[in-house]
Amino acid sequence: MHPQALWYPYAQMKNLEINHEVVSAKGVTLQLANGQSLIDAVASWWCVIHGYNHPKLNSAVTEQLHNVAHVMLGGLKNRPADELAQKLVDITPEGLNHVFFSDSGSVGVEVALKMAIQYWQNQGKTQKQRILTLKKAYHGDTTGCMSVSDCDEGMHHMFNGVLMPQIFAPQPCHGSPADEAKLNQETEALSQLFEQHHEELAAFIVEPLVQGAGGFNIYSERYLKAAKALCKQYQVLLIFDEVATGFGRTGEMFAAEKAQVTPDIMVLSKGLTAGYLSHAATLATTQVFNGFYDDDASKAFMHGPTYMGNPLACAVALAGIELFEQENYLQKINDIEKQLKRELLSFTHPSIREVRVLGAIAVIEVHDASSLKGIQDFAANRGVWLRPFENYLYTMPAYIIKPEELSAITQAMTEWFLNE
Ligand SMILES: Cc1ncc(COP(=O)(O)O)c(C=O)c1O
Repeated sequence: MHPQALWYPYAQMKNLEINHEVVSAKGVTLQLANGQSLIDAVASWWCVIHGYNHPKLNSAVTEQLHNVAHVMLGGLKNRPADELAQKLVDITPEGLNHVFFSDSGSVGVEVALKMAIQYWQNQGKTQKQRILTLKKAYHGDTTGCMSVSDCDEGMHHMFNGVLMPQIFAPQPCHGSPADEAKLNQETEALSQLFEQHHEELAAFIVEPLVQGAGGFNIYSERYLKAAKALCKQYQVLLIFDEVATGFGRTGEMFAAEKAQVTPDIMVLSKGLTAGYLSHAATLATTQVFNGFYDDDASKAFMHGPTYMGNPLACAVALAGIELFEQENYLQKINDIEKQLKRELLSFTHPSIREVRVLGAIAVIEVHDASSLKGIQDFAANRGVWLRPFENYLYTMPAYIIKPEELSAITQAMTEWFLNE
């Protein structure tokens, strides 16, 4: 076997050393080939919300497997896809009545961007082709997603020359609770961008309430309310990328609910299929859907990934949503938030710039990324799997985590600094 046949993500392969081979997993625990076990503090990039190897999700997949693993949605129906579309319409904020499935968070965002642009094209507003987005945003790794992610400091800046030039608003960083003066400045800056660019803008895309991979920046629902009003005033669609925030992460089922703002288009992934199969759903309001609904065939939405509406993925998503409802996950998330606040918020150290907690998200931001060098091995030696990036040491655990498991995570995070 070639030692580097497998090319790893976001990694310089020349220095890469991967010592942990996962052979099985259960609950929040990864079992390694060397016999060691690790509590997963990041839920496999935040998607494994029900924990690993969940019996209910396992049986949803195996039962569906005995019927049909995959069938295309081009001209054929399948029951799990139909049922999941209806369920998502039922549980998302009122007005989001139509669901377009695709294969991953990035593709779900691409679908949202294309949907917004074609919506205006279909109405003859052909100049509306650009997207307003936020500095420090992260919306995925494909070309359209990279164009709306941070273009200067983000990981994709070397592609700037080939990306569609989009319009960037300053990052909302008024803190929580909001610093009034700063929040007003930020919404004023946003308003000026709408005024200047609205004729060319198809949509404004945001990760609502928390910018995830751009630095776990938490901001107020009041910014989103102002954004919604501006979108309405200037005829610009509002897209919520809830790939990370959806399914409970901020403390409500969706950040849109917590903010009490309904977008025109909303993207879900990660928690939707909870680490079993990759899938995404892009939801649209009836107004958006009707922009495509016509006797003219050329106004049909021009997208259709091979795996959209995959029955296995839809079956596991339905089972996951049922679990969420039956097992009172929102209470579990509330308890996680309280514990994270109790165990982390008051922690200080000269290397630390800020500690932030919202829902089942906690981040320790350091002044200098070098102060996190070595923490991964330090935590692994204490039975915890952490994966910091840049200046951010974070946890976004599965919601089924037990208090003592969560304490093991917060202890690994804080003891590192005491050990420095
Ligand atoms: C907010 C947000 N959007 C989109 C994506 C991309 O999702 P995927 O990795 O499934 O393509 C991510 C992934 O981290 C994300 O956090």
